[in-house]
Amino acid sequence: MAERILIVDDEEDLRYVLARQLRKDGYQIDTAYDGNDAIEKMRQTDYAVILTDMKMPRRDGLGVVSAARELLPEAEIIVLTGHGSLENALQAFKAGNIFEYLLKPLDDIAVLNTIVARALERRNLRLHNRQLFEQLQQAYEELKQKSDQLIQQEKMSAVGTLAAGVAHELNNPLTAVVGFAQIVQEKLTSKRPANWNDTEYERLLRSIENLVQGAHRARDIVSTLLRFARSSRPEARTLVDLHQVLRDTFMFTEHLFLRHGITLQKQFTDETPTILANASRLQQVFTNIFINAQQATPTGGVVTVRTVCDHERGGVWVHVEDTGVGIPPEELERIFEPFYTRKQEGTGLGLSITRQIVEEHGGEIQVRSEVDQGTCVSVFLPTTSVSEQNPPQPYLPQSLSA
Ligand SMILES: Nc1ncnc2c1ncn2[C@@H]1O[C@H](COP(=O)(O)OP(=O)(O)O)[C@@H](O)[C@H]1O
Ligand SMILES: [Mg+2]
Repeated sequence: MAERILIVDDEEDLRYVLARQLRKDGYQIDTAYDGNDAIEKMRQTDYAVILTDMKMPRRDGLGVVSAARELLPEAEIIVLTGHGSLENALQAFKAGNIFEYLLKPLDDIAVLNTIVARALERRNLRLHNRQLFEQLQQAYEELKQKSDQLIQQEKMSAVGTLAAGVAHELNNPLTAVVGFAQIVQEKLTSKRPANWNDTEYERLLRSIENLVQGAHRARDIVSTLLRFARSSRPEARTLVDLHQVLRDTFMFTEHLFLRHGITLQKQFTDETPTILANASRLQQVFTNIFINAQQATPTGGVVTVRTVCDHERGGVWVHVEDTGVGIPPEELERIFEPFYTRKQEGTGLGLSITRQIVEEHGGEIQVRSEVDQGTCVSVFLPTTSVSEQNPPQPYLPQSLSA
């Protein structure tokens, strides 16, 4: 497209001559007869170059120059004046983006074409630089975001290592606590100490019951942590029981549902779906999906986790259905994009990582949703049959049974 140039001069003859000269180079030329007329035209059109006289009735060239700074900050301005004093020139340069200051009459009018071409060159270079700068800035922002993400991942893996260490240390004392608590409970239940009355005795039995339950729960958490730590090398895959992975995930997420007054229903198939998988990566998948379901579901809602074996395809489906806010159809495609989030505190990474892990395991993930009704996220994972060559992994980590 031809570049647009505005010529501003109160002398009609001069306007005509200048316009004719510049049209020879194929520019599109508009003319204005004074400052006000020029400003009117600058509001309508994006001129690349403005060629202006200084002394004009109504509004002079300085007015044009300073208006251009506001309206067309990228325009190059060439001043063509018959009143060339140093003071005038200084005023013009102060007022705006002057490329050249020329004195009338021009000895050779053709010189104008050269000057306009150079002005355009400078303008394009500046626009190009600006574009490069913006690209650079964008690349920098992305890089920074990536590095923040990596730092976060590093932190998480450090926390994981720490948790595994703590779990390992707690394992032996906890085994003792569970064992002794059970012995005390058995002894007390079988015979009431002679010097205790009924109320005291019953209170004690209830306390010891709580103690045993608490110790069991602590031991379960520790063994879940150990299982998690054992398989946290990303490439490590073992045969895992999908139901066990789900139970482990509930261990860490169930309190969220409780706290928000959401009922959690588990409907597991009677079969035992075994998958060749990285258990902690799978746990990450279901943690993300459960947390999304919880965040979308208001108090009083229900989240149902259902497993269904698909023998034809040789795999198992996990359906996580909520009675939450739902997802509008136009957003269904976008929720798997990295950084796509509608939550104020969201990262938008949950589902993109989730899909990646599911696909790493040869599976797929589907979402059905209806606004204000709820959402169902379904994960399909291929199962591996357990055989003699393929014995199931011992459920408890070695350190626990030792
Ligand atoms: N069960 C769900 N119900 C409604 N919206 C959901 C559900 N799961 C995911 N979404 C939508 O998908 C978006 C992306 O989810 P996700 O990738 O986990 O990132 P985040 O949870 O950080 O926003 C969420 O912000 C939310 O808008
Ligand atoms: Mg999420």
